[in-house]
Amino acid sequence: MTKRIVILPGDGIGREVTAEARQLLVDVAAALGLQWELDEGLIGGGAYEETGTPLPEETVAKCLRADAVLLGAVGGPKWDSLPGDVRPEAGLLGIRKRLNVFANLRPIRTWPGLMLASPLKSELLEGVDMIIVRELTGGLYFGQPKARVEGGQAVVDTLYYTRGEIERVVRQAFSLAQGRRRKLTSVDKANVLESSRMWREVVNELSAEYPDVAVEHVLVDNAAMQLVTRPNSFDVIVTENMFGDILSDEAAVLTGSIGMLPSASIGGEGPGLYEPVHGSAPDIAGQGIANPLATFLSVAMMLRHSLGYPQAADAIEAAVLAVIEQGVRTRDLAGSNQAFVGTKEMSELVRADVRRRLA
Ligand code: NAD
Ligand code: IPM
Ligand code: MN
Repeated sequence: MTKRIVILPGDGIGREVTAEARQLLVDVAAALGLQWELDEGLIGGGAYEETGTPLPEETVAKCLRADAVLLGAVGGPKWDSLPGDVRPEAGLLGIRKRLNVFANLRPIRTWPGLMLASPLKSELLEGVDMIIVRELTGGLYFGQPKARVEGGQAVVDTLYYTRGEIERVVRQAFSLAQGRRRKLTSVDKANVLESSRMWREVVNELSAEYPDVAVEHVLVDNAAMQLVTRPNSFDVIVTENMFGDILSDEAAVLTGSIGMLPSASIGGEGPGLYEPVHGSAPDIAGQGIANPLATFLSVAMMLRHSLGYPQAADAIEAAVLAVIEQGVRTRDLAGSNQAFVGTKEMSELVRADVRRRLA
């Protein structure tokens, strides 16, 4: 059966990296004798310019009909002073909510060959292989009220979770841990936040159902430190929306660049949403130097989790590893005296390797 894939390029480098990912999908289809139904939709700042909203209903409808959605990134300085509800980022939050993808999986690993791209000592980075499970459709990002109040002299953001919202994402994390090294680190701020105290309670209750998984609770400030002092001791980390956002950018430093981190957002009744962890990178947009690999690795996650082609996912991951081991670098991965290639060249080298592997 033909699989429908919707690509939402978004803004800035989101457009550049998804253009290459589209080529990658076309190459994979050709190599496997498949045909995708590929479509694109508007989201973010570009969508706002064209339609007055960062998430047109037409985009939502396309996504709901798809088997999987690939998103680039949204946002940029041009739209930073818009009201919150029409900012590009509101489009991204909106599509996550509409697809009900409450579990955002952010795998973090080190790549042999890239250890020196990280400012951390190589011996600390040996064997780092963790996955952050970030709650994606609740918490501070979505709680109401969220407003300027008292005549503009005060402001409120609301951290709201139902027990059910916590349970479903914690279950995802437990079952992921069961398929890995069976260790779950729950990150919270239970010494201060009531929401975190309920979070911890839920984790402890559910742990009875997963007796083979060892659970630890770490406060988020301490977790931020331990991510860089003992990164290879983590297996699965589960945490609420905003803590997960912040900790995953920190964890990017282990890999060498945020340009290497993919993600999969799952759990809804419809398609999974796949996106690089990085943003639209206005500082380098339009220069042709963005690293497309976070998006390529997100395509691999999509092929594995939503489309049922694990061999193609393996080929992409192996190709990324091989090209990096050959010393090919985009600018974000290169040392100050190292040569680097552009987005298209990196894409072509990895795609050529993928084509060879799937031939
Ligand atoms: P960012 O991730 O866009 O950039 C942070 C730094 O990392 C920049 O120096 C950038 O050049 C670099 N970088 C990021 N991705 C890269 C890549 N693939 N290759 C090479 N270098 C890369 O974060 P920011 O600067 O804080 O945010 C910029 C805009 O992006 C904001 O409008 C923000 O809201 C938005 N944003 C969107 C998403 C998303 O759509 N998923 C995620 C994060 C930020
Ligand atoms: C991410 C981004 C988004 C988030 C922003 C752009 C809304 O930082 O995907 O990590 O905070 O979720
Ligand atoms: Mn983020």
